[in-house]
Amino acid sequence: MFADGARCVAVVGAQWGDEGKGKLIDVLAEQATIVARYQGGANAGHTVRVGEAEFILHLIPSGALYPDVRCLLGNGVVVDPWTFLEERDELVGRGLDLDGRLGISGRAHLVMPYHKMLDAALETGRGGKAIGTTGRGIGPAYRDKAARTGLRVADLSDPERCARVVERCAEAANATLARQQVPERVDPEQVLAALGEIGEQILALRTDVGGEIRAALRGGGRVLLEGAQGALLDVDHGTYPYVTSSSTTAGGAATGAGIGPTAIDEVLGVVKAYTTRVGNGPLPTELEGREAERLRELGGEFGATTGRPRRPGWFDGPVVRYAAGVNGLTALAITKLDVLDSFETLKLATDYELDGRRLTGFPELASDLERVTPVYETLPGWGTSTAACRRLEDLPEAARRYLRRIEEVAATPIRYVSVGSARDQTIRVAAARA
Ligand code: GDP
Ligand code: IMO
Ligand code: MG
Repeated sequence: MFADGARCVAVVGAQWGDEGKGKLIDVLAEQATIVARYQGGANAGHTVRVGEAEFILHLIPSGALYPDVRCLLGNGVVVDPWTFLEERDELVGRGLDLDGRLGISGRAHLVMPYHKMLDAALETGRGGKAIGTTGRGIGPAYRDKAARTGLRVADLSDPERCARVVERCAEAANATLARQQVPERVDPEQVLAALGEIGEQILALRTDVGGEIRAALRGGGRVLLEGAQGALLDVDHGTYPYVTSSSTTAGGAATGAGIGPTAIDEVLGVVKAYTTRVGNGPLPTELEGREAERLRELGGEFGATTGRPRRPGWFDGPVVRYAAGVNGLTALAITKLDVLDSFETLKLATDYELDGRRLTGFPELASDLERVTPVYETLPGWGTSTAACRRLEDLPEAARRYLRRIEEVAATPIRYVSVGSARDQTIRVAAARA
């Protein structure tokens, strides 16, 4: 399923996350040597369906379902070691053989229990301006990383350093908790004891992720760089401050995996055939009422990590066009086309207007994005199931027309179309169209 000649493919979300990256990566992983996560942490929820079995992966890369794929966490990931081990054990309990297949960069930062406490406390403190985080401690962990007060996987080999860092962080966290009037406190001894229990297990997985990727590529192997979240949640390019705290876009794939940008030869943007967002922040094409409920029910749009209902909307062209630019997308993978099967007509936003003027760029301010009016086109639906379609020619003409409009509006060719969550419900679009 790899595009011709591609060896190292970054697979990134091109909207607000939950585009179906897990499914796409699983499909592509059949031919991969390595699948590596490069950013984010257990805030991700990537669903992979194999037959009747469904797996929701939070930290372990979505290549895990193929027995020969090595699954790595790059330096850009923030690893909650307890969640990681729990997830590993659960997958092993479900019959996966992960022995010798997992590796974590020694440079990856650890998400500590106090990061999660701070995540919750800071959210409460934001009141009506809460981001709606997943509560996985992501923001506070990246804050420690940037402030140079974080703890990394490699530090687990130095108990004295761990003690110093944890004591300092606990003190700072307790001051914040007190300020936020949260009654709980961090007990550094307890944290260190818990860390002591799992340190060796994590250290046993320590590896040079960038080095492994480079060696695999030199040896003719194929590598997938698995993005989490999406472009509009990127800390630089997203709808700040309603974003996550990492670089979700393709540039982050190089930095976060420990390779150079020149090693990546394809950037595949995963795009839902409509739009969803979970958490707070602007969503210009958002639907309300019965239409929203219909799309949410048909698409099963409930968060894979938190179970929260996702906010659905029509396809947002300016978002995907912008995501194509900031990622340098070479192709699109359109997912969940089947969810639109029963709609009589579909709306697709091609542009935004703000204060009566057509915008040429994408607004920097969340407050401006809140105020834009999408310019919609209405396209006919196809009113028939696409779930059994396996080639582009099998799709109804109206569905192909809808896809063509997406390609035009996003100015990027479509390489895959997904018409269901199963592996075989994937259409590979001939490269000649690209
Ligand atoms: P990710 O975070 O980008 O990996 O996406 P999620 O796993 O959070 O959400 C995508 C959901 O859509 C999952 O439940 C998938 O099983 C499901 N899914 C993926 N592709 C398709 C598709 O083409 N059609 C349908 N109906 N469901 C899909
Ligand atoms: P996958 O990889 C959708 C959202 C949260 C919140 C914001 C910040 O499954 O696509 P955080 O916990 O990261 O500090 O929350 O980002 N968010 C996601 N939304 N899919 C995800 O991951 C997300 N991970 C975080 O809802 O709005
Ligand atoms: Mg998800």
